Amino acid sequence: TKDVVILGIETSCDETSAAVLFNGTDLKSHVISSQVKTHQKYGGVVPEIASREHCLHLGEVVGQALREAGIGFSDLSAIAVTYGPGLVGSLLVGVAGAKAMAYAAGIPLIAVNHLEGHIYANFIERQEIVFPMMALLVSGGHTNLILFRGHLDYEVLGGTRDDAAGEALDKIARALGFGYPGGPLIEKAALQGDPCAYELPRAMLEPGSLDFSFSGMKSAALNILNKAKMKKEPVDVNHLAASFQQAAIDVLVRKSIRALDRYEVRTFALAGGVAANSLLRKSMGSELSARNIPLIFPSPVFCTDNGAMIAMAGYFHFLAGDYANWKLNAVPGLNL
Ligand code: KG4
Ligand code: ZN
Repeated sequence: TKDVVILGIETSCDETSAAVLFNGTDLKSHVISSQVKTHQKYGGVVPEIASREHCLHLGEVVGQALREAGIGFSDLSAIAVTYGPGLVGSLLVGVAGAKAMAYAAGIPLIAVNHLEGHIYANFIERQEIVFPMMALLVSGGHTNLILFRGHLDYEVLGGTRDDAAGEALDKIARALGFGYPGGPLIEKAALQGDPCAYELPRAMLEPGSLDFSFSGMKSAALNILNKAKMKKEPVDVNHLAASFQQAAIDVLVRKSIRALDRYEVRTFALAGGVAANSLLRKSMGSELSARNIPLIFPSPVFCTDNGAMIAMAGYFHFLAGDYANWKLNAVPGLNL
């Protein structure tokens, strides 16, 4: 039988990435060109600069991914590309590029939801995943609990009503003067801090709700900073980082348990950039082992934005015959 060879392309935010995946199991190449250094001087991603950087780098990133995989366009079965959610200009570069390449190569184009991609990152390093699976997706833009009954067969159980978990971490990091992206810097500072030093609210919302809210916790932390500034009192940034990280993770874990009390699952998956956080992994791990539910999460490189996860989700859409047409457009506000 012929190999199924998928080229995955990701350009939704500030990483230009491409990967070649054979048969949904064998990642032959994976190239990530990060713009973090470019955006760092602005304290966050500048959308127009991001689009221009994708435009500059997409060709070479795809070329390198094919070269490292030892193949050419004619060996591909399909090209999978992120079409949303994300920054519209950034998405358009990937979508237009993927369309041109797929059209020229005479192969199908596959439209991948970036959020699905994050969850499918869990399949890159392990093939055997037992359904039903619950996923906690925690990225810079999203916080969702999702129930998977099978491949691409899922139901969203809850989402954030205001800030995403990663977004809140990034905002607090910026207020603490840590820089961008904030999550990893908060995690590092928290190692030197006491998570009980500051008391922050942990919003659980209505009884039974599987939605999230991080804005109260964020405002409380910002208030502590502002009050101290007004009184010209010092704030221990490590203590505040540790307290905020702990509060955010407490909510993520408690809500996950609330969902697990309601749905019986055989796997629990973490996904998205915040899934790289070791305290989150550890806290979820101990809760789940008490319940005999295996916890899975991708390696850090596959937690944050990458082309391999897009190739993986694209592979399952390819098997389902779910091809996009040449009118595919970017959908910046796409949901699960
Ligand atoms: O999934 P992702 O790369 O991009 C989006 O689709 O949003 O997630 C980026 C988010 C950022 O908010 C970043 O601060 C956070 O993931 N993040 C972390 C860690 N690494 C990345 N948050 C906490 N701990 C980390 N180690
Ligand atoms: Zn992402």
